[in-house]
Amino acid sequence: MIIAPSILSGDFSRLGDEALRCERAGADWLHLDVMDGHFVPNITFGAQAVEALRKTTKLFFDVHLMIERPERHIEEFLRAGADSITLHIEATDCLERVLSAIHGAGKKAALCVNPGTSIETVFAWLDKIDMILVMTVEPGFGGQAFMADMLPKIKALREEITRRGLSAIIQVDGGINESTIGLAARAGADCCVAGSALFHSDDMKEAIVGLRRASANNCQLSTVNCQL
Ligand code: DX5
Ligand code: ZN
Repeated sequence: MIIAPSILSGDFSRLGDEALRCERAGADWLHLDVMDGHFVPNITFGAQAVEALRKTTKLFFDVHLMIERPERHIEEFLRAGADSITLHIEATDCLERVLSAIHGAGKKAALCVNPGTSIETVFAWLDKIDMILVMTVEPGFGGQAFMADMLPKIKALREEITRRGLSAIIQVDGGINESTIGLAARAGADCCVAGSALFHSDDMKEAIVGLRRASANNCQLSTVNCQL
């Protein structure tokens, strides 16, 4: 299981230290939640912050864009040092163009579905993307409860990817902790984002080990990255 701490739950007065803390705690990726106050009711940070953070850590930058019409800002985030960019399928009409801009820069491209969006909407794109993010909370804020009714979406997606022999991986974001990560893993998740469960723990290293252990106990159906 790939573990991606969401810096949204970190201390915003010292984001560089928080990024480094994730790296030292053994995180695989750093998840960066970009919000514009339109697509979601919250505002966080933009490409300038991503660029500044890029200097503090070598972690893989997993940039989750919760913004309207992301095509207007893709180049900025690519230049800022994103390794992977996730777009909401609900946020743009120019998916084809945006995905090829990301891939043209040699970076990974992902699509995200909100809780209210059916998983079948991404099926036509599965062979053109590297990852699908299934939201298990309404996007906008950390610290919300995991929506277990999203598990059938993860399972259906896993089955579709396996049936077609594709390599796209499945990420789950929202309400992930030691009690819920096993459910996500069992449904077929390869990567879990965790904000409050990691940043509000006393020892992030132990918290990451705990998440890995809880997911490995429950990941018979997931095909990649399931080792402890
Ligand atoms: C929600 C964000 C998530 C969030 C996760 O809009 O996309 O990445 O920070 O936080 P927790 O793990 O606290 O639900
Ligand atoms: Zn996120």
